[in-house]
Amino acid sequence: MGLLDDLNSLLDEGKKAIDDALDSEALERARVEFLGRKGKLKQLAGQISQVASEEKKAVGKKINEIKTTFSQLFDEAQSGTETKSRGPLLDPTLPGTSQPRGARHPLTQTMERFATIFERLGFSIADGPEMEDEFHNFEALNIPPDHPARDDQDTFMLSDDRILRSQTSTVQIRVMESHPPPVRVIAPGRTYRPDTVDATHHYSFSQIEGLAVDEGISFADLKGTLDLFAKEMFGADTKVRFRPSFFPFTEPSAEFDISCIFCEGKGCRVCKNAGWVELGGCGMVDPNVFEAVGYDAEKYTGYAFGFGIERLAMFTLGVDDIRRFVENDLRFLRQF
Ligand code: DAH
Repeated sequence: MGLLDDLNSLLDEGKKAIDDALDSEALERARVEFLGRKGKLKQLAGQISQVASEEKKAVGKKINEIKTTFSQLFDEAQSGTETKSRGPLLDPTLPGTSQPRGARHPLTQTMERFATIFERLGFSIADGPEMEDEFHNFEALNIPPDHPARDDQDTFMLSDDRILRSQTSTVQIRVMESHPPPVRVIAPGRTYRPDTVDATHHYSFSQIEGLAVDEGISFADLKGTLDLFAKEMFGADTKVRFRPSFFPFTEPSAEFDISCIFCEGKGCRVCKNAGWVELGGCGMVDPNVFEAVGYDAEKYTGYAFGFGIERLAMFTLGVDDIRRFVENDLRFLRQF
């Protein structure tokens, strides 16, 4: 073996020693061993006089190369020993750091279950602004200025004559303004009313609106659709009930109840012994609403409904206070 080979092995040996050094003291020992005054490189370099003259140049070059490489590696390793001395960077035997897994908010889950059922029935999802004007929130929905029906839907006033919508029924108007019939949509979203906050009221809550308009749609279609929805959402044994009611934008109008899923209609704390739970309002779209959006009220009929999401979620998930949904308390949210 010539000197050049010895030098090459020294290079490998030195690299390994640097690599293996776990702390700065071990590294310093390696530096002395390889680059010190009596170190291995010095010793090999001393043999250069024995090398044939034509090889001298190559050997000299190699020696310099090793010196530079080592110095560089030592410097780099010096900054690395800090972490090395604490052990390997990655210990594959340790359990991993788990990332807390998020989940959808219970209101979102409820809306999504609702939406999935109606999407399967051919409904699309529509959206509308939470900042509305009086026309979409009231006038077009057959609630003229100064009409007492406005009292139930008192809301927050913004500047520029705008208001926060008090109901998602506004989206009915927006959809019909921009689409010719037939339409079949549901519209989930936030609504606002200046209600005093308590266990069942909040100034901000969510509704989901439904609207179907076509030729020949009757109250029987409304009943059939909501009956099917109730059975899908709450179980096949769920019964539905329609009670005559009043909404300015539907004629006739009804309140929609389902048999209590907790006591199966026998009467319990949740349904306040009624055996029935009210879910929302519904009815046949009033011809005045069609007129406001330019639909031909002689040709088309339609039904509409509107449910409160919090109410639905409280009922299905067994939540007794509407405020829980907006408190952002993880002890509550993690249960769903
Ligand atoms: N917008 C009504 C409310 O907030 C709920 C409602 C009732 C919506 C009947 C409808 C409907 O579409 O037909 O009280």
